[in-house]
Parts: sequence; structure tokens; C-alpha cells
Amino acid sequence: MIKTIVIGGPASNKIDEKLAELLKAEHIKIEHKLFPDDESYIRYPVPKLTGTVLLVQSLYPPQDKHFVELLLMIDTAKDLGAEKVIAIVPYLAYSRQDKKFLEGEAISVKTLLKAIESAGADCIITVDLHSEKIVEYSRIPLINTSAVSALIDYVKHEILHGATENVLVLSPDKGGLKRARRAAEILGADFDYIEKFRDRVTGEVRALPRELPVEDRVVIIIDDIISTGGTIALAARSALDRGAKEVYAACTHALLVRGAYEKVRKAGVKKIVATNTIPSPVSEVDVTPGIKEALNKALKFIV
Ligand code: R5P
Repeated sequence: MIKTIVIGGPASNKIDEKLAELLKAEHIKIEHKLFPDDESYIRYPVPKLTGTVLLVQSLYPPQDKHFVELLLMIDTAKDLGAEKVIAIVPYLAYSRQDKKFLEGEAISVKTLLKAIESAGADCIITVDLHSEKIVEYSRIPLINTSAVSALIDYVKHEILHGATENVLVLSPDKGGLKRARRAAEILGADFDYIEKFRDRVTGEVRALPRELPVEDRVVIIIDDIISTGGTIALAARSALDRGAKEVYAACTHALLVRGAYEKVRKAGVKKIVATNTIPSPVSEVDVTPGIKEALNKALKFIV
């Protein structure tokens, strides 16, 4: 591995520190403050940079602010002499707006990727993109690493304590079927999905009628994001109404907005587990080892 420096932004959730430790690389932290009008100020505590630098900045709330900080970090790294910049963005915000659902809408994630490239990034590493087709919007290498095996490892050992018989992995929508299949393979379990319908104007979700083989089984719902918790709550209620014994939820990005945690627990979910792409009380699984692996790929692309 070539010599690199890991630089942690204001929204790195300590992944920068863990990555520097794993890579045995030099580590610095961006100096950061807010101006009185709330604009972000960033400063590198070094006069110059050389070679390939790894910037870590996740785009959890406040997403827009963290995004502007990421752009400032990338552009300034190049100004300071970095030859290559790898932007490590564990949670890529705006990913759910990856197409026009209604005429005239922005394809938000496409615009974000364009801006990251224009700021000077040579490669992006992220974790569990909302959809794989997002990769096609990026004109620089965009490496999407999966946290599914780390999450399911946690579920297997810390929640199921190795008892994986009688488990069903459930995707709360058809789009997440591949993720559920992967999780089920790791557990040696069955998998299925719920047919979810989301009203594109109100955002409200409901389940369409569908057979679910959940009776007397332990159900693990797996999703990429828990935002308001509506999707997981719906899936949990569908499973419990059909006789599931216990329901747990695993997700990569725990946004948990508007009382989502309470909503999901109230729907009957016994435990929620997520990764540390976003700080939250349930962010127990570390994505850094996966990012380190993705880095080997990234370096091949750009060096
Ligand atoms: C949607 O397609 C995603 O995979 C998640 O299911 C969704 O973003 C979760 O949102 P919420 O928690 O607000 O239902």
C-alpha cells in the first residue's frame, strides 16, 4: 500500500481515526468552526499536502452543511498540493433521489456526485449506496462497499447467539431483495420481501397484500436506511400480524429522524442495529474494515 495521510472532516464519526490506525497511516483532523451566520469554516493544520490523501466526511444531518464542508476539504486539499484525493463518504446523502419519480424533479445524487468531482476528488468510496445504478452517475471511480456481512455477523453473534435455524430475513421492499438474499446466505436462512407502496407526494408507506412465511419464526428485517422508521415499522407489523415470533431490524444508515427509534420499537421490533456511517444510539457495527478493503481497489484505479 502506498503512503497516505488520513484527514478527518467535521462529520467523520471517528472513522478517520479508526482507518488511520488500521492503515498505520498519518492522521490529521480538519480545524472547523461556524461563522456567526452559520457558514462553515475549515482549515488544514498543515501548510502543504503531497501524494494521495484520504478525506473522511460522512453526509449525515445537517447534510447540506456537511456536503459544503466536504467540497471545501477536497478543493483545499488540491490547493495545498495533494496529487490525488480519495473522498471517503460513508453515508452519501440524497441517494434516495436517484431518479425522477415525478416530472421535473432533480436527480439529486447525480448533482452531488458532479460537485464532488468538480471540487477535485479523484475517487469516492462509500458504503451501501441506496441503489447500484448510482455508480453510473459518477464520472470518477465510485466504490460502493457493502456493510451487510458486518451487520449480519453482529446479528448472528450478538442477537441470535448463533441460533440461526428458524430465521427468516425480510426485505421491507422489493428493491432490497438482493441485500436480504446476501444476508440470508450468510445466516443459512430463508429470505422474502414485502411489497411496499410509497405515496410520492405525502411520503406515506403501506404494504400490499402478500403471503409471508413468518409464522413462529425469528424475523430479521434488513434495509439500507432507517429514516422516519415508517418502512421498518410497517414490515415489523406485517410480520408480527402473521405470527412471527420475534422481529429485529438491521440497517446500514440509521438516520432515525422524527422519533423513528420509538416508532420502530413500538411496532414490536426487539432491537435495532446499525453501522457507524451515522452516529446514533444503535450504531454498533464498524464499517472501517470494509472501507480499508475498498481502498485497495481505489488505489488501483487512481495510481
Ligand atoms: C427506501 O427505498 C429505503 O430503502 C428505506 O426503506 C427508506 O428510506 C426508509 O425510510 P423510512 O424510515 O422513512 O420509512
